[in-house]
Amino acid sequence: MASHIYTTPCIIASLSCFLLLLSSFSQCQAQMSPTFYNKTCPNALKIIRTTVNQAISRDRRMAASLVRLHFHDCFVQGCDASILLDSTPVIEGEKDALPNNASARGYDVIEAAKREIEKSCPGVVSCADILTVAARDAVVSAGGPSWAVNLGRRDSTMAYHAKAGTDLPSPYSDLDTLITAFAKKGLSKRDLVALSGAHTLGQTQCFLFRYRIYNHTDVDPDFANTRKRQCPEQQIGDKNLSPLDLVTPYVFDNNYYKNLMQKKGLLQSDQNLFNGGVTDSIVSEYAKSPEAFNTDFVSAMIKLSEIQPLIDGHGIIRKVCSAVN
Ligand code: HEM
Repeated sequence: MASHIYTTPCIIASLSCFLLLLSSFSQCQAQMSPTFYNKTCPNALKIIRTTVNQAISRDRRMAASLVRLHFHDCFVQGCDASILLDSTPVIEGEKDALPNNASARGYDVIEAAKREIEKSCPGVVSCADILTVAARDAVVSAGGPSWAVNLGRRDSTMAYHAKAGTDLPSPYSDLDTLITAFAKKGLSKRDLVALSGAHTLGQTQCFLFRYRIYNHTDVDPDFANTRKRQCPEQQIGDKNLSPLDLVTPYVFDNNYYKNLMQKKGLLQSDQNLFNGGVTDSIVSEYAKSPEAFNTDFVSAMIKLSEIQPLIDGHGIIRKVCSAVN
C-alpha cells in the first residue's frame, strides 16, 4: 500500500514528462518542414529550381559548386547562410577565409534566386533555406537522388571567419582528423564517407593535389602521370583545374569510390578514406552498390543540412543574401 502511494506521483510525473517531450518534439517538427513556405511563398521551390537549372545549363560545374557551398555553410556554425555575407568594416566574411577564398563558388546563383523570390514574397524565405534547396536541386540536376528538404531555417547576422579556418577539413587531413571533424558536427564515419561522395562532381586546383601526385606512393602511377600534365611540379599552374572524378566528372554516381579502390583519389583526404583504415569497408560497399551510396548520401545530406539551424525566432530573414538588413 505504502509503495503504491509513492509510485502514483511517480507515474504522473513520468507521464507529464513524456507529454512535454512529445509536445516539444512536435513543436520542432512544426518549425521545420518541407511545406514551411506552402502558404507564405508557394512558388519559392520552383523559383530556386529554375534559377539553379539555368545556372547549371550556362556552367556545368555550378552543380558541384552549389553542393560545396552548402557544405561550407553548414560546417561553420550551422546552416545559417553565414558563408554568403560579404566582408564589411564590422564583419570578417567567411568568403575570405582560406578554404573559401578563390575557391568557393555559386554565391551569385543564390543571390539571383533570392532576388526573384523577393519579388513575389518579400522578407519571407531565408537565404539558408535557398542554399539548402539549391544544393539538393544541384544533385538532382547531375542525375543524383532527390529528397524532401525540411525548411524554416533563418539567416545569421554574423559571419564566422576564424571558424571557417578551423572547422572545414583540409585536403591533407589524415583519416582520424576527418573522422573527428565530422564527429564534432554530429556526423558518423558512414556520413563522412557518403558525403565525400559529392567529390563525384567538380574540380580542384593543382596546388591542392600537387604534393600527392609527385610524392606519395599510395597513388596509381598512370593516374598520377596523367594528372601531372595539368599540374607541373614547378610552382606554375597552381590554379589549373582537374576533375575530382576523372571518369564521369559531371555525373552524380558512385565512380568516386571505384577510383579510391584503384588508388585514383585526387586529394590525399579522399584517398585516406581507402588506405587500410576503418572506412575501407564503407568505400567498398558504396563502390559495389550505387543504391547503398544514394540512400546513405541522402540521409547524410539531411543531417548536414540540419546542423544548428537558426529557428525559434533566432536569426533574421535577410533582404539580400550578401548583407545583413
Ligand atoms: C571530407 C572532407 C573534405 C575535404 C578535405 C574537401 C576538400 C575539398 C577541396 C580541397 C576541394 C577543391 C577546392 C578547390 O580546388 O578550390 C573540394 C571540392 C569540392 N568539394 Fe570537398 N572536401 C571535403 C568534403 C566535402 C563534402 C562533405 C562535400 C559535400 C557534401 C564536398 C563537396 C565538394 C564539391 C562538390 C567540390 C567541387 C566544387 C567545384 O567544382 O566548384 N566536399 N573539396
